[in-house]
Amino acid sequence: MAGIDLSVNISGVEFTNPLIVASGPPTLSPQQVLKCIRAGAAGAVTKTITYDVKQQVQPKPRMLVVNPEDALRNRFYSFYSIDLMSEHKPELWLRQLREVKKEAKAYGGVIIASIAGRTFEEWEKLARLVEEAGVDMVELNLSCPHLEKGELMGRAITSSPEKVSEVVKTVRRATSLPVIGKLTPQGANPVELAKTMVSSGVNALVSTARFQGLIVDLETMQPVSWGGFGGYGGPWQIPISVGWTAHIAMEKLGVPIIGSGGVSKWEDAAQLILVGASAVQICTAIMINGLKIIQEILGGIEKWMVSKGFQSIADFSGITLGKIVPLEKLERRKRFQLHIDSEKCVKCGLCIRVCPYNALNAENASSIPEPDQERCDNCGLCLSICPRRAIRFEEGSGE
Ligand SMILES: Cc1cc2nc3c(=O)[nH]c(=O)nc-3n(C[C@H](O)[C@H](O)[C@H](O)COP(=O)(O)O)c2cc1C
Ligand code: SF4
Ligand code: SF4
Repeated sequence: MAGIDLSVNISGVEFTNPLIVASGPPTLSPQQVLKCIRAGAAGAVTKTITYDVKQQVQPKPRMLVVNPEDALRNRFYSFYSIDLMSEHKPELWLRQLREVKKEAKAYGGVIIASIAGRTFEEWEKLARLVEEAGVDMVELNLSCPHLEKGELMGRAITSSPEKVSEVVKTVRRATSLPVIGKLTPQGANPVELAKTMVSSGVNALVSTARFQGLIVDLETMQPVSWGGFGGYGGPWQIPISVGWTAHIAMEKLGVPIIGSGGVSKWEDAAQLILVGASAVQICTAIMINGLKIIQEILGGIEKWMVSKGFQSIADFSGITLGKIVPLEKLERRKRFQLHIDSEKCVKCGLCIRVCPYNALNAENASSIPEPDQERCDNCGLCLSICPRRAIRFEEGSGE
């Protein structure tokens, strides 16, 4: 679109737009990384590269969509999986990344290598290796939900801020490339974790990854499918990710934030940018909707930017932060009168059922609910659930 500049700069690296494919199945090989870039992503993060052989062999089966009907209708759904790290040995990545690098560059595409070491020496070795392969940035997998019990990678390491700090420092010393720290939403407080990573030397942060979950089959009474814990995420996660991104941005840590966790529509990406993200990562939605979603998201952002008069991503990155009302300043005194539009109401009785204050009553099933203005506490629940949007607040008397 004429006049719209989608480019962003993250720690000195130029991205043609704010959409980056996150580490995962869409980037499981160098060829797949290239496909993402050809499809219009400004960058792609490789599936996590590791020397850990038990991470290189995938459980079978390992992925399932909870509520697939909703996923196909683009409604909230959950993605449950135990996809481990890259099946390819680091040396294969080294060889093949070198080969795809040239074409990626021709598209202006940024290649980010995700790495995970079992020891500080491995973190160091992997950082050197991917730099040698010609990647543009390094991302630290300090977020994988499957890792537990004292390991030095994934979410397991975050129980020790000292070890997180040591990993960041080790990688920082080993490479001259910008280093991105990927946060887990689970375990340590992500804001504290972000501070530890930044003070130890990361140049950018990925705001959130997935949670760990467990789904039990009531017939067999065993965990479903592969039989163990799994990563749990999906579009339902977006408000949590927007919340964490805002919290981290409000700390003004001085490094760019890449918003992530549940992006499936342009509106999600725009929200993350509004609360301070410079760019956005996306994985699950590509797996469900295909690479075409990249252009759909970019097109949606561009159109919205035109409608709002924004010309660049920087024009709106973080502008919502100043509008977030802290708890102690939330409106408490103003009161509204509840009004039910008799033309719209279909007498379904839903509002009566949900009202926690018993402020709505109907004489019988064929009458329109009558609000008791004294009892109504203006909580807003009936307004949001009414299928006909028949209920509204009207300015009433103060206090
Ligand atoms: C099946 C699957 C495999 C993943 N593998 C990796 C991985 O190897 N390394 C990593 O850092 N993140 C991995 N992730 C996490 C994603 O990069 C991303 O942080 C997370 O899924 C949240 O983003 P999304 O909601 O857009 O998927 C994986 C996610 C999924 C769904
Ligand atoms: S929920 Fe809406 S439509 Fe249903 S009874 Fe209440 S006002 Fe009427
Ligand atoms: S706004 Fe809340 S308290 Fe008032 S009638 Fe609706 S549900 Fe009840």
